Amino acid sequence: MTRTRSVLGVYPGSFDPVTLGHEDIARRTLRVADRVLVAVAHQATQAKSPAFEMEERLEMLREVFQDETRIECVSFSGLLVDFCREVRADFVIRGLRAVSDFEYEFQMAQMNRQMDPGMEFLFLTPDAHLSFLSASLVREVARLGGDVSPFVSKPVLRRMEARFGHTEGAASRGEGA
Ligand code: PNS
Repeated sequence: MTRTRSVLGVYPGSFDPVTLGHEDIARRTLRVADRVLVAVAHQATQAKSPAFEMEERLEMLREVFQDETRIECVSFSGLLVDFCREVRADFVIRGLRAVSDFEYEFQMAQMNRQMDPGMEFLFLTPDAHLSFLSASLVREVARLGGDVSPFVSKPVLRRMEARFGHTEGAASRGEGA
């Protein structure tokens, strides 16, 4: 079969900040897509108040994926279904870490499907050693002065240090609470 155009996967999320788990999912997506759009949802569509502004989240993502030309990082506002139609996405990618993620992801996929019956969702699991990671826990550890270096890549670590103070090696030096 001859393909007429490249396969595009949209990977939406808050990415506040991008973790090694997100990174793993985006790179895995390239096994089934020619291009990946990592799409940061506009703050107005999120319930929680973010640790990083949209521009900072985008900058971190772009630094993290600067080695990979097939991954592009953008932001979007409004509904995911509208954004996906606009960019002519073939499917949406979401990461599934554990059964606990399933209910929320299933609900979101079905809501989106209701709004756009043509929308496909693909769920990928991260590498096992990343399956416990969440951006909200990473933020909490950083806020409390813990070491987040095992959970985020270097560009993100630098930003977290600038925002929350030192977040690398504090535990090994016996510092902190
Ligand atoms: O990383 P998150 O916070 O779990 O990502 C949630 C996200 C951004 C994928 C979701 O909130 C979303 O799609 N927001 C865009 C607005 C929208 O379409 N909302 C209706 C979802 S059914």
